[in-house]
Amino acid sequence: MRTIKQSKKLKNVRYDVRGPILVEAERLESLGHRILKLNIGNPAPFGFEAPQAIQADVVHHLPEAQGYSDSRGIFSARTAVAQYYQSRGLQDAHVDDVFIGNGVSELISLVLQTFVDDGNEILVPAPDYPLWTGAVSLAGGTPVHYLCDESNGWMPNLVDIESKITENTHAMVIINPNNPTGAVYSEQMVKDLVDLARRHDLVIFSDEIYEKIVYNGAEHHHTAAYTGDDVLCLTFSGLSKAYRVCGYRSGWLMLSGPKHLAADFIEGLTLMANMRMCSNVPAQHAIQTALGGYQSIEELIVPGGRFYEQSMLADRLLNEIPGVTSVRPDGALYCFPRLDPEVYPIADDQQFVIDLLRSKHLLVTHGTGFNWPEPDHFRLVTLPDVQMLEEAIGRIAEFLAEYRRAKGTSRP
Ligand SMILES: Cc1ncc(COP(=O)(O)O)c(C=O)c1O
Repeated sequence: MRTIKQSKKLKNVRYDVRGPILVEAERLESLGHRILKLNIGNPAPFGFEAPQAIQADVVHHLPEAQGYSDSRGIFSARTAVAQYYQSRGLQDAHVDDVFIGNGVSELISLVLQTFVDDGNEILVPAPDYPLWTGAVSLAGGTPVHYLCDESNGWMPNLVDIESKITENTHAMVIINPNNPTGAVYSEQMVKDLVDLARRHDLVIFSDEIYEKIVYNGAEHHHTAAYTGDDVLCLTFSGLSKAYRVCGYRSGWLMLSGPKHLAADFIEGLTLMANMRMCSNVPAQHAIQTALGGYQSIEELIVPGGRFYEQSMLADRLLNEIPGVTSVRPDGALYCFPRLDPEVYPIADDQQFVIDLLRSKHLLVTHGTGFNWPEPDHFRLVTLPDVQMLEEAIGRIAEFLAEYRRAKGTSRP
């Protein structure tokens, strides 16, 4: 029999941790080592329980969740999503503009398969959440990375975006609050991005999965609040992060703007939704309760709350390490520190992560895994409690001290 290979479509698809890092982590685990995994934004293993009311609602609806639903999602969930956006100032949000999916992940793929033609260019931030880049490639498009500016709080660089727009550019991805940088875009930045899309006739894909996880008074601004009736905007969000139910796989997308110009695209989207029958029905029942009920997330993001305390602690401890600088996250669940190349002359950041893993049994993600162009960053998940975070960052600090000694770059 001939050898079986992955399709060529996967050639340019990178995803967080795959390949050698994962192989090494599994090898160490098979030898009995316990690996502290700070590489995936999955709250449950770190002691975050889904709100009781959400779990109860899913259980309550199980008997009636046995059949396929409307491929766009159950009516009550889509209504709840539309009403949520109405309450956020998007008065025109309508139940028919909402599609429920198995998490934002599924909807990203579904939308890009529907939208992208071979050779279309899609603007994606660098660093990005790499599913976006991978899904654009898989759909036959070309991801074109625009830079976010670390020296400006990781805000998108508007000049860089503009310089990368060509006649083949069809859409722009915005991730706000951002994974991996933790940046929360100012109102002016959101307006500027929308304005740019307007001037160049681009569709906007706005990934807002961390919209409720903001710190230090930062305010999240929905892109769709500024797109008006002349920029088509697809807003993505869901229950995974703010409601701590990643495993339920429950997310949504909402269309807004000149939908009459997008009738053909929406027909395609409906076709794609139909092809996978529907998303997980029990988890759809969580949406109405989640959006309408008590918002327990608000306790986690203020001083004394775990998300807040852990993010601020991680930021402080990372910045105390010589040659490490980290922009304070104003949202999401990550830090994305920079390793000064003069102190840490890293040629291959994937190897760097493997060396850290072998030496300290701690797993983080290399910056180039987020399509960052230089091997000088890594991402740390800030989900462990403060004791575990202190322990983890202590191990990183030790490893970096050994690295400096080995390279002779320690400062007196
Ligand atoms: C920016 C961003 N978008 C989307 C997702 C996927 O979310 P979901 O669990 O809804 O598929 C993640 C998960 O980490 C993310 O960080």
